[in-house]
Amino acid sequence: MKSEIIIHNSISLDGSLTGFMPDMELHYKIAGDYKPDAHLIGADTVIAGNEMFGNGIPDELPADFEKPNRDPSLPWWIITDSRGRLKGALHTCRRYEYCRDVILIVTESTPADYIEHLKERNYSFISIGKEKIDIVQALRRLKEEFGISKILTDTGRTLGNTLLNMGIVEEISLLIHPIIVGEKCYPIFSEISGNILGKLKKSEKFDNGCVWNVYTL
Ligand SMILES: NC(=O)c1ccc[n+]([C@@H]2O[C@H](COP(=O)([O-])OP(=O)(O)OC[C@H]3O[C@@H](n4cnc5c(N)ncnc54)[C@H](OP(=O)(O)O)[C@@H]3O)[C@@H](O)[C@H]2O)c1
Repeated sequence: MKSEIIIHNSISLDGSLTGFMPDMELHYKIAGDYKPDAHLIGADTVIAGNEMFGNGIPDELPADFEKPNRDPSLPWWIITDSRGRLKGALHTCRRYEYCRDVILIVTESTPADYIEHLKERNYSFISIGKEKIDIVQALRRLKEEFGISKILTDTGRTLGNTLLNMGIVEEISLLIHPIIVGEKCYPIFSEISGNILGKLKKSEKFDNGCVWNVYTL
């Protein structure tokens, strides 16, 4: 059985992923209700999240070098980072209490000092692909080595559109916020290479003015 991939994003009325403040509580409530084995997140999303919600990167503590001892029913966070751009910042993710632990996906070209950095901190990682991450093989390894098959991608356009262009996404969950971002719009689907036909599976209205639409592909 292949992995089930769901894209879950909060967007504006004009389809922007950024330029407004999403209702984070509702966003994560919907994400959690999917009960995914893992969240798949691009390095750029982590960097943007730390800039938006963090107060600088805190110093590492001894506990940041150990795998957390958390409820095994919690989802993993899988982060793509072949260039090692999250060196020194991964503990901001590992510390998140609703994350079982972080698994990195890297490649044969990932700088050796980053791999060493991961090993020193006891991060699990999968190295797959020469320059770019081989997503299909990474999914296979995640299933074999961690039993991960239901994956919610709570990421930005780059990784989300890559998965859609590969034809491996089963469902798109969009929490549409009643705001127009306008000229600073970061359109959710602007790197899609051709039409993708979806079927509306569910539509729900919330008191805060958001509409949640779910499409199967
Ligand atoms: N509104 C929402 O719901 C929402 C949710 C998440 C993020 N965001 C916003 O989205 C923005 C960040 O997203 P983004 O679009 O810049 O990037 P992103 O979705 O975080 O994707 C970047 C990641 O994609 C990987 N990647 C790129 N091409 C690939 C390929 N062909 N195969 C495998 N992996 C590939 C990169 O890997 P390497 O690092 O290995 O190159 C990188 O880690 C931020 O502004 C954030 O605030 C919004």
